[in-house]
Amino acid sequence: MHVKHLVAVIDFGSQYTQLIVRRVRELGFMAKLYALEDLDQIHEPGAVILSGGPKSTTDADAPDIDFAWLQSFGVPVLGVCYGMQLLNIKHGGTVKGSNKREYGPAALVPEAGAVLYKDVTPSSQVWMSHSDTVDHLAEGCSVIARNAEGVPVSLQWSDRMYGIQFHPEVTHSHEGRTILRNFLALADNLQRFDIGDFKNEIVQEIRDRVGDKQVVCGVSGGVDSTVLAVLLHEAGVNVRPIFVDNGLLRKNEAEEVQANFARMGVEIETIDASERFLNALAGEGDPEKKRRIIGGLFLDVFWDAVGNAEMLAQGTLYPDVIESASNAKSKASVIKTHHNRVERVLELQAQGKVLEPLAELFKDEVRELGAAMGIPHDILWRHPFPGPGLAVRCPGEVTKERLDIIRECDAIFIGNLKKFGWYEKVWQAYAGLIPVKTVGVKGDERSYEWATNLRAIVSEDAMTADWVELPPALLRETSNRILNEVKGINRVLYDISTKPPASIEWE
Ligand code: XMP
Repeated sequence: MHVKHLVAVIDFGSQYTQLIVRRVRELGFMAKLYALEDLDQIHEPGAVILSGGPKSTTDADAPDIDFAWLQSFGVPVLGVCYGMQLLNIKHGGTVKGSNKREYGPAALVPEAGAVLYKDVTPSSQVWMSHSDTVDHLAEGCSVIARNAEGVPVSLQWSDRMYGIQFHPEVTHSHEGRTILRNFLALADNLQRFDIGDFKNEIVQEIRDRVGDKQVVCGVSGGVDSTVLAVLLHEAGVNVRPIFVDNGLLRKNEAEEVQANFARMGVEIETIDASERFLNALAGEGDPEKKRRIIGGLFLDVFWDAVGNAEMLAQGTLYPDVIESASNAKSKASVIKTHHNRVERVLELQAQGKVLEPLAELFKDEVRELGAAMGIPHDILWRHPFPGPGLAVRCPGEVTKERLDIIRECDAIFIGNLKKFGWYEKVWQAYAGLIPVKTVGVKGDERSYEWATNLRAIVSEDAMTADWVELPPALLRETSNRILNEVKGINRVLYDISTKPPASIEWE
């Protein structure tokens, strides 16, 4: 989609680059990330931000841009970290290479009257992450902020060109948002980012691309694929949403997914492949082999159903398409990217048959879009659920009996999280099985049964996670109900492991 007057963010490879785009959009302006190879796609930007990056500007192969080209736009330019050092060099200054990294908080001391620091509290915390530093300032360059030790951390070369050594885009820079807002205020006529307008554009684009062809898409009941299917439905194209029941779903999940789509007026096609999956998994206890069996079979079942698709739509999101940020990607995102780029998809893509209407959005924007289309809140705020389903919560062999036990425990736990008002405070939660038998007493009899583990975590992106201090009353009621109601369980444990070193799932 080509948009004029947007904020073009040029990616020099920092792991925070995506965040810059996101912050700009949060401030209500359209922003897009451009790889260095794609700079010819930038036309009439409203402002340009040069991101940070892992390289040193002093390296022979340091990433570079054509300064005359950059100046030719005549719009405000902000260089962040690497971007600032590059701008200083372009203006005739120098940068000193270093192997020592400054990483962490610093106090920001702006010069009086610096436009970039309007309304920023003196000594506000900013976040540093760099090795090199600016050495000689270019002629005509002024220092507009320093750190507490008096070292320059922000430069201005003209009323159009600014540099910041720290990272305003990370939340550890407490007033980074204000600084970015001040920068954007220097630009004229910036394109606004409004999810409603954006939706209309996406819908129009879908209509133009699909025409009267049939488009298939996989749905899982998760946020991305649901929003995708509803969007296609709203565009009025001929869409065939396919839901594969792999038998590894939570209690009543297949029915709920169908009911959810029905209440949104979208008819989905369910393929019950649960027996095939359970047969394929029989006797297999190795976690990686289990994953491979499930992933492979899913593709077989899905592509069998698709047949000769005229078009395929996928719920690929912005973080999934940005290669440079791959080191900051969550496992779920990496897996999804992998899934969305299997050979068959690449073939269709080469023929122009793949549609990825959400590819410019972040997860929270997808939720906003979903809300704008009237998708119910509970669907948009469902916890993430792994593709291999309950199999990764059932260490060792997967059997119907084990899965049923997990389903019962999980339904009680999730039900209680909702009842106590904790479901939305928690990023992900589940009950799993510990297939170890221990001795207990039930009634007057000795029992010898398995244990269940409850896990509830908070996380930003699934890369790291912390366990949640749930209220004892919630845990107690959950434990009592599981012990009373679920046959086969005589012990309930709460998992208090952080990630790292533990992972969120058990396998
Ligand atoms: P771990 O267990 O690695 O999980 O801490 C991180 C996040 O990724 C989800 N997850 C998956 N999602 N397919 C997916 O779509 C998978 O194979 C998969 N494995 C883990 C997990 O639920 C958590 O949110």
